[in-house]
Amino acid sequence: MSYKAKFRVWRGEGGEGRLEDFTVEVNEGEVVLDIIHRLQATQAPDLAVRWNCKAGKCGSCSMEINGKPRLGCMTRMSTFTEDETITVTPMRTFPVIKDLVTDVSFNYTKAREIPSFTPPADVKPGEYRMQQIDVERSQEFRKCIECFMCNNVCHVIRDHEENKPGFAGPRFLMRIAELDMHPYDVVDRKDSAQEEHGLGYCNITKCCTEVCPEHIKITDNALIPMKERVVDRKYDPLVWLGNKIFKR
Ligand code: SF4
Ligand code: F3S
Ligand code: FES
Repeated sequence: MSYKAKFRVWRGEGGEGRLEDFTVEVNEGEVVLDIIHRLQATQAPDLAVRWNCKAGKCGSCSMEINGKPRLGCMTRMSTFTEDETITVTPMRTFPVIKDLVTDVSFNYTKAREIPSFTPPADVKPGEYRMQQIDVERSQEFRKCIECFMCNNVCHVIRDHEENKPGFAGPRFLMRIAELDMHPYDVVDRKDSAQEEHGLGYCNITKCCTEVCPEHIKITDNALIPMKERVVDRKYDPLVWLGNKIFKR
């Protein structure tokens, strides 16, 4: 069954733009990205949207649908009523390049600031032996498709551009936690998590976890445990004494 839906889509570039109204055909089984593609094909050939896999796996089609960060390719039209106006806007936390396409390079800058996995020099690839529990823990974080919707929704940077230099965002604080929990990683990540990557800014609102399309428990399994690791170090008397002696 087909029907006509009302779409309101953000159009603009160079820091300026407006919402534009469209009436567009919807067919059974379609997702929001299908409708955006139909708009391109029939009414707005220059409408910019980033996408790739159309299967919820490349993380390219992140956008805000009725104000909520969503993957366009995984948001079924059947979740809306036929008379509803569907508003589609670009991710708010990142600068707009054109229409629905944002410049997400903030995220790549943050990724580069984190030292990569560093195993002990005397253990060769193929010699790592890990317990299943350690494997499973990092496997959850490895499901990340880098859609950056968690970073987009986190209030620390969503409404505060000034926090961006000192805050890696949930996606990359999770990466730091993953590496810190890795039994073969030798880099000390606790102080830098707090001091350089802004772990202390996170006040556990869990908005990041709510929007994650991979259902990764970012807050409970990465951010809170990482906060506990940082605090343990601070208040463990032996660790404190060790720091005093070795920092002299
Ligand atoms: Fe997207 Fe989830 Fe990865 Fe964040 S953690 S970038 S929301 S897949
Ligand atoms: Fe932001 Fe997630 Fe923490 S939304 S405040 S990083 S729990
Ligand atoms: Fe790849 Fe939507 S197009 S996640």
